[in-house]
Amino acid sequence: MSKGTYYLTTPIYYPSAKLHIGHTYTTVASDALARFKRFTGYDVQFLTGTDEHGEKIQKAAEAKGMSPKAYVDEIVRDIKEIWKSMDISYDIFIRTTDEQHVKAVQGIFQKLYDKGDIYKSEYEGWYCTPCESFWTETQLKEGKLCPDCSRPAELAKEEAYFFRLSKYQDRLIQYFEEHPEICLPESRKNEMINNFLKPGLEDLAVSRTSFNWGIPVPFDPKHVIYVWIDALSNYITALGYGSDNREKYEKYWPANVHIMAKEIIRFHTIIWPAMLMALDEPLPKMVYGHGWIMFGDDKMSKSKGNIVYPEPLIERYGLDALKYFLLREFTFGYDGTYTNRTFVSRLNADLSNDLGNLVSRSITMIEKYNNGIIPEGKMAGEFDENLKEIAVAAAAKVEEAIDKLQFHQALEEIWKVIRRVNKYIDETTPWILAKEEANKERLNTVLYNLADSIRIVSVLLKPFMEATTSKIWVQLGISDDQSTKWEDASIFGKIPAGIKVERGEVLFPRLDIEKEVEELEKVNTAYFQKINGIKVEEEVVKIEPKEEITIDDFDKTELRVAKVVEAEKHPKADKLLVLQLQVGSETRQVVSGIAEHYKPEDLVGKSVILVANLKPVKLRGVESQGMILAAATDKKLVVATVDGDIPAGTLIS
Ligand code: MSP
Repeated sequence: MSKGTYYLTTPIYYPSAKLHIGHTYTTVASDALARFKRFTGYDVQFLTGTDEHGEKIQKAAEAKGMSPKAYVDEIVRDIKEIWKSMDISYDIFIRTTDEQHVKAVQGIFQKLYDKGDIYKSEYEGWYCTPCESFWTETQLKEGKLCPDCSRPAELAKEEAYFFRLSKYQDRLIQYFEEHPEICLPESRKNEMINNFLKPGLEDLAVSRTSFNWGIPVPFDPKHVIYVWIDALSNYITALGYGSDNREKYEKYWPANVHIMAKEIIRFHTIIWPAMLMALDEPLPKMVYGHGWIMFGDDKMSKSKGNIVYPEPLIERYGLDALKYFLLREFTFGYDGTYTNRTFVSRLNADLSNDLGNLVSRSITMIEKYNNGIIPEGKMAGEFDENLKEIAVAAAAKVEEAIDKLQFHQALEEIWKVIRRVNKYIDETTPWILAKEEANKERLNTVLYNLADSIRIVSVLLKPFMEATTSKIWVQLGISDDQSTKWEDASIFGKIPAGIKVERGEVLFPRLDIEKEVEELEKVNTAYFQKINGIKVEEEVVKIEPKEEITIDDFDKTELRVAKVVEAEKHPKADKLLVLQLQVGSETRQVVSGIAEHYKPEDLVGKSVILVANLKPVKLRGVESQGMILAAATDKKLVVATVDGDIPAGTLIS
């Protein structure tokens, strides 16, 4: 029995550049919502697609010597590939170049024109003749120059069609007051009311004659329909609005939610509702503008070189790890900052330590203490009630959070269960129970409770991390139809006793954070450079040989392994560090010119190579008893270290 329909949408993305984790964020969140609604019994339609018209795309295609259609076809193929590799469960993929969309948009334009809500007038703006582009005053560089080519722009007029947006101002204000969900989160709604609706709406130019990559105005084809009328209509044309087959439209419209980031919320909460009012169609039930993923203080940009793409992250850590991170790390609705360190730390703490560990510990104990068979749990004890209470209460809390699009909160509710079960293991200490035959019944009960708690966790996780859920089911020995429906997550005791568990691969391997952050830095940079065609010049080292020496000459040098136990900045010289080295039972002080390449704390613990018989010298007043070896080019310096377990002081020869 379906609980009803649920229609949700992502923005339709511009196929002008490769999508990055910002776009991935919106789509992953929408996908999780779609999966959640399907799993909890709704008849879901999940729409995504591409917004393919406009001057920018026309120019990008021209620059590549391609037709706009051939240009977008290539990028759209890549976008579909990304969504496929990310297992995005969209039901419809709309392209604004789809014939049916084009026809329907022309129908919408005509209808609004016939009604008097679209009229012909003149568009006035700042025009750049070489670029054939209109700009608004705020877009101009230094108040007068074209932002594209930096040549002076001139005030000019162009014939254009206008949408009578001003007519809908009062109805929109009233609608906002009566339907708080038309613009969420709350803070954005206030911004829309105070900054846009109340000061007054101006009619909107909805056609252009200065470029032609767009849908022609049906009754005046030298005009093309300007982007927002074309783009926003996708949400209904995708369902068959404006075609002979309106079945899906009748069934699914109005949308339950349009999801996007904050920069396009104005179009979705003002222009789109006004268009729908003009068409006499119902308005979407909810419009949600989430925050931006930032990098440092910046939004991602090609010129800053700080774009992170999903592919290398998925390849290295798996799809579920990326999905989990995106949904858990950022508070939906607010900006958040991506760093490689937060990514790696989040994975390690939540996925490897909490979830991965719980599953592997529990399955291992069932194998060790009961031959891999889930026993019956007949002997309740301390902690059981609290464990069960927390486990069965989670589903409702997850659902409540998802209905408010608070993905991070939903996952936190699941992790509360995971952490509770881990604590249960520490409280009940199965390894101690296992020592006495008399405790067998109690031990069995603990093992049963663990297995069933993990089942509950796996069911709760399904909409968010499908692959992980499947892996857990394989390990638990259960399959899709046994105790794994959403309703089963709020019932304790559904896993059948007697089934055999099977330890599998580690779900999320533990990460060495420092090493991993360093590696990820390289991986992300390399991928960015590959995608954006940046060739990195390898430094070629020129070798100038030194005079030949004999082995006796070399033997005069006493090289030893030395462990850095302390490091600090030289009090008087910016380029020097003062290191305390452990060499056998001695401590040596060495002053080293590496401060531009290493922070003191990065060196502590490293085993370096010391020239131990070098005559001591004072460097800017601090004694240096030897030197450490490093490899250096003009740009880089790397301290030579000894890899492997060998005592400090060992001679190197
Ligand atoms: N084509 C329009 C949307 C038309 S919808 C009728 C468009 N396309 S876009 O390709 O620029 O995509 C913008 C959307 O991508 C944002 O609204 C957001 O969903 C997502 N994001 C792009 N960069 C992002 C971040 N850095 N952080 C979060 N979301 C980001 O605008």
